[in-house]
Amino acid sequence: MKVIRTVSEMQALSRSWARQGTVIGLVPTMGFLHEGHLSLVDTARERCGAVVVSIFVNPMQFGPKEDFNAYPRNEKQDLELLEARGTDVVFIPQLDEMYPKGFETRVELTRLPNHLCGLRREGHFRGVTTVVLKLFAAVLPNIAVFGEKDYQQLLVIQRMVRDLNLPIEVVAAPTVREPDGLAMSSRNSYLSPEERTMASCVFQALQRARQMANGGVVDTIMLRRAMTEIIEQAGAQVDYVAVVDPDTLEELLLVKERAHAAVAAFVGRTRLIDNIRLKG
Ligand code: PAJ
Repeated sequence: MKVIRTVSEMQALSRSWARQGTVIGLVPTMGFLHEGHLSLVDTARERCGAVVVSIFVNPMQFGPKEDFNAYPRNEKQDLELLEARGTDVVFIPQLDEMYPKGFETRVELTRLPNHLCGLRREGHFRGVTTVVLKLFAAVLPNIAVFGEKDYQQLLVIQRMVRDLNLPIEVVAAPTVREPDGLAMSSRNSYLSPEERTMASCVFQALQRARQMANGGVVDTIMLRRAMTEIIEQAGAQVDYVAVVDPDTLEELLLVKERAHAAVAAFVGRTRLIDNIRLKG
């Protein structure tokens, strides 16, 4: 496994792979890897001749009051995990190459960010799309794998790829969970033991909404009320609970054939997000 820290070296290697007809897969991450990230690596491995995992904690996607400085980092452990999983290259770009002096370009969607997390985290998705396009330009992948855990992010990236005619296939990978249902996340490391126990309420709320929807409840006010109750009874705070159209993320009044439930909640000071398909 090779570690590459400059864009020019990464591009040169990708170009030589492309000349040999090797299919290149990219898994973008912010590191502090867990089994969720590694499942994305497995998905890329199955479909690609060369697998690149990027690790970059992207300052542009964090708000001024968010956890950029506190965000967990452990490069040595990440490299061990990636090597064991059959990664070819770990791309770790440096801050001054990603955001050189004078940097002023932004990549921004106009509609999808106006929902869910986008309303709570001003500028977040602009930071995500800008950095992901830069990672695409550095790695030149044929395939890029993203997790359904960050469902809005997945839709935003799919939209960007279509809108900009990028020759990249975006592959979605299912959410990997702890035994109690908590979606794996680098931010789970912030949780105290008591908070970690509380945190399963997020998935319980989503599961309850799915049970109700499968049982014929169509009024999304009832679903949202039930989700809020489960989260608050556990001692966590709701940031949002929503039932949305899975393509546009617009809130639904009534559950349709296709509907998605999404939650963001504060467990102590840690903000957790999760989502599930409601029907089917
Ligand atoms: P990060 O939070 O490190 O996540 C990297 C990728 O792993 C994302 O595609 C995310 O959806 C996926 N992922 C995280 N937890 C998962 C889980 N429990 N199961 C399955 N997949 C999971 O998302 C980002 O980084 C950044 O915004 C990034 C795209 C790298 C841009 O900076």
